[in-house]
Amino acid sequence: MKGIVFTEFLDLVEDKFGLEMVDHIITNSDLESQGVYTAVGTYKFSEMLQLLQHLSTRTKMSIDDLLLVYAEHFFGVLEDSYPGLLATYKDPIEMISSIENHIHVEVRKIYPDAELPTFEVIEKTENSLIMDYKSSRAMHHFGLGLMNKTFEYFNSSASIVLEKIKDDGTEVRFIIEQN
Ligand code: HEM
Repeated sequence: MKGIVFTEFLDLVEDKFGLEMVDHIITNSDLESQGVYTAVGTYKFSEMLQLLQHLSTRTKMSIDDLLLVYAEHFFGVLEDSYPGLLATYKDPIEMISSIENHIHVEVRKIYPDAELPTFEVIEKTENSLIMDYKSSRAMHHFGLGLMNKTFEYFNSSASIVLEKIKDDGTEVRFIIEQN
């Protein structure tokens, strides 16, 4: 997992819960990195899981809810860092259905070692999209948060339903209806 995901996560934790919480989740985790991250480095996903688990225990928020809030923050980071990529799109359904074949393809050119999910478009109309998410990291709620913000970015909104294809969340169907 790329360092930018860690650095932005810890910034958000500090903003929302304070520096003590950052210290708590780092010192209670067993981290190869010792909790020192640089944006361009690459770290084990298991470090993120430990940080999330400790934050979840402390805040009594579910990991899914934490990932949702975090993704909504991360969208702003993407907006600032990759304005050109977002400017290619005029419509949220077009953008979300292009993650697999365009957006994440570009991401992989910048970060060859990025650990990305796969998205398969099952059905697409002008204002609806059914898309299957697959990833061993089960970060579907991170995807949900990014999708919510994508609609907001285009001054729109949507109802998005998640249906687990696998109980462990490594395969999830997104059913998206633009309002
Ligand atoms: C992960 C970039 C848009 C879904 C990531 C990562 C980067 C990235 C750098 C982390 C990779 C790693 O840690 O190794 C971008 C950029 C985008 C974009 C630059 C737009 C300009 C989106 C959108 C979605 C999405 C709109 C919505 C579905 C995900 C998910 C992950 C991810 C779910 C977590 C990894 C996993 O589930 O396995 N993306 N992304 N991305 N991205 Fe994107």
